[in-house]
This record gives sequence, structure tokens and C-alpha cells, in this order.
Amino acid sequence: MPEIGPSRSRDAGAGLAQEFRIRQVESEDIPLVTALAGHIWRRHYPSIIGVEQTEAMLAGLYALDALARQMAAGQHYLLMEDGHQQAVGFGAWSRYDPGLGGPGVTRLYLDPAWQGRGLGRRLFQALRDALSATGAAPVRLRVNRRNVQAINFYFRHGFVIERALDEYYDQRWLLDDFLMIDDGSGS
Ligand SMILES: CC(C)(COP(=O)(O)OP(=O)(O)OC[C@H]1O[C@@H](n2cnc3c(N)ncnc32)[C@H](O)[C@@H]1OP(=O)(O)O)[C@@H](O)C(=O)NCCC(=O)NCCS
Repeated sequence: MPEIGPSRSRDAGAGLAQEFRIRQVESEDIPLVTALAGHIWRRHYPSIIGVEQTEAMLAGLYALDALARQMAAGQHYLLMEDGHQQAVGFGAWSRYDPGLGGPGVTRLYLDPAWQGRGLGRRLFQALRDALSATGAAPVRLRVNRRNVQAINFYFRHGFVIERALDEYYDQRWLLDDFLMIDDGSGS
């Protein structure tokens, strides 16, 4: 499997006693992403969008066939693994995402057990590096307006709110998002 960026690194500052790596998701990894998305979403999103919408969006975005379709349409998924090859997070980028109207980071999810230790920062950087290697800019992303933890994470990485975006998912679920854009101030 191809690895992204520096192959392995130990983050002494984080006090993490193991090595983490980030690699591309291949088609055989799709079931792993489906399972990891379920694990993270069911812990993070019910308090923001409710259980029903969480389940509807998981089924729509992370079913095996849905992920395969996204990858075929240019969503590049990356997986972060710990030193025992256990998946701890995943993300995705695209040179053109219809929901963003251009290039951007389209997924960024870390297992709650691993949050707050600098791993999200590392995964986010890998996604931005991959995008920047294609020359695609500016980088945008979408985030739920009540996802305060993630919005503040993006602020710290130089993103600003471009505008509010209200759209229906599956003609039923309101996505009340912020469209955020990298203002170039860096992270
Ligand atoms: C948003 C998300 C990806 C951020 O990942 P994370 O691993 O929690 O974030 P990080 O640990 O990299 O950074 C958060 C803070 O942790 C703290 N931290 C603790 N130890 C750290 C270390 N060793 N190195 C760096 N930061 C550290 C810092 O305060 C850091 O803030 P900073 O950016 O100002 O340095 C993650 O919280 C997540 O998956 N959330 C739920 C899903 C979600 O909402 N995804 C976004 C959808 S749009």
C-alpha cells in the first residue's frame, strides 16, 4: 500500500507511545472505513443532528457501494493507523467536490479515543498536502454549524467562515453547515 508523506513518525510531544501512519484507502479497505465511520459518527453526531439523521447519513455516505462510488468519482480517502495497524481515523480530499463547488477536504474523522493528541492535526495536514500537490486551491470544507469542536479546530488551522450553507440531504434532512475556506494564513 502506498504511504502518504513521511512514512512513519513518532510524536514524542504527544506522549504517544506508538507510531502512526497515514496511507491511501484501497478498495479492499472500504469495509474498514464503513465500520470506522459508524463507530465515530454514532459517538459524535447524535447530539448534533439526532440519531435518525446520523443513521440516514451513515447509510447514504458510508455504505460499501456508496464509498466505492465516491472513490470512483475522485474522492481520495486516507486512513490513519496506529502501530498495531488498527484504524484510528480517516479523511478524504477531492479536486472537485460538488458540495463545495471546487477542491477541498471532504472528510475528517478521528476515533474519539484518539482525539486531542495532535493526530487530527496530522491527518488534516496530510489531506491538505495531497491537495496542494495537485495545485488545487483554494481549499474549502463544510462543517455543521453546531459542530463547535471541529469549527474551532479549523479556525486554528487558518480557515475562516465563507458563508452559511443550508441544503437538504435526501430531500429530508437539513444540513445547516458553514462553508469554510483556507484564508492562506497557514496553520
Ligand atoms: C475535528 C477532529 C478531526 C480534530 O482531531 P483531534 O485529533 O481531536 O485534534 P488535535 O488533537 O490535532 O488538535 C486539537 C487540540 O488538541 C490539543 N493537543 C493535545 N495534545 C497535542 C499534541 N501533542 N499535539 C498537538 N495538539 C495537541 C491541542 O490543544 C490541539 O489544539 P491546537 O490545534 O491549537 O494545537 C476530531 O476532533 C474529530 O474527529 N472530531 C469528531 C468528528 C468531526 O467533527 N469531524 C469534522 C467533520 S467536518
